[in-house]
Amino acid sequence: MEQDIQEVLYSREYLAGVVSELGRRISEDYKDKNLLMVSVLKGSVVFMADLMRAVTIPCAIDFMSVSSYGSGTKTSGVVKIIKDLDVNLEGKDLLLVEDILDSGMTLHYIRDMLRQRNPSSIKLCTLFDKPERRQADVTADYFGAVVPDAFIVGYGLDYDEKYRNLPYVGILKPSVYEK
Ligand code: IMP
Ligand code: MG
Repeated sequence: MEQDIQEVLYSREYLAGVVSELGRRISEDYKDKNLLMVSVLKGSVVFMADLMRAVTIPCAIDFMSVSSYGSGTKTSGVVKIIKDLDVNLEGKDLLLVEDILDSGMTLHYIRDMLRQRNPSSIKLCTLFDKPERRQADVTADYFGAVVPDAFIVGYGLDYDEKYRNLPYVGILKPSVYEK
């Protein structure tokens, strides 16, 4: 795996600091609310696992799975629900937890769909944001870092289902996907 990484962008230690600060802010903002953290599988699973432990107030969690990417590096624009939520959203303050906000098509679709189920509120928390590539009208309420327009992997982020288990985030060598 290591030999496919062009450059390490964020070390394990740096990510730990970013996540702890996000957890602190979320705990403060949601202290009088009914927080439900929803992780969008699979990319956000590592972030979610760390973020929920950085949250110091009571919260519930749930997962949903959508597909929009196939094995390429650009969004297809088509979002399909693979696994829906288990819980009812009424009265919940929903925080959608994503790995990276790129074109925004995925989160735009999910947010609109979940809004129809009447949660008390709905906000987005993404670890990484690529604002230059935004196509849909979505902004993150919480984000960890703005990343350059390069394809990054690690800490949950994949290319063709690989590299999710790297403990840091790095830029993937273009030669890996330009084959
Ligand atoms: P969007 O709908 O274009 O915002 O796509 C968001 C999804 O695309 C993320 O949840 C990731 O799964 C994937 N994605 C976008 N950019 C990257 C990247 O640089 N590395 C890995 N996955 C990415
Ligand atoms: Mg992915």
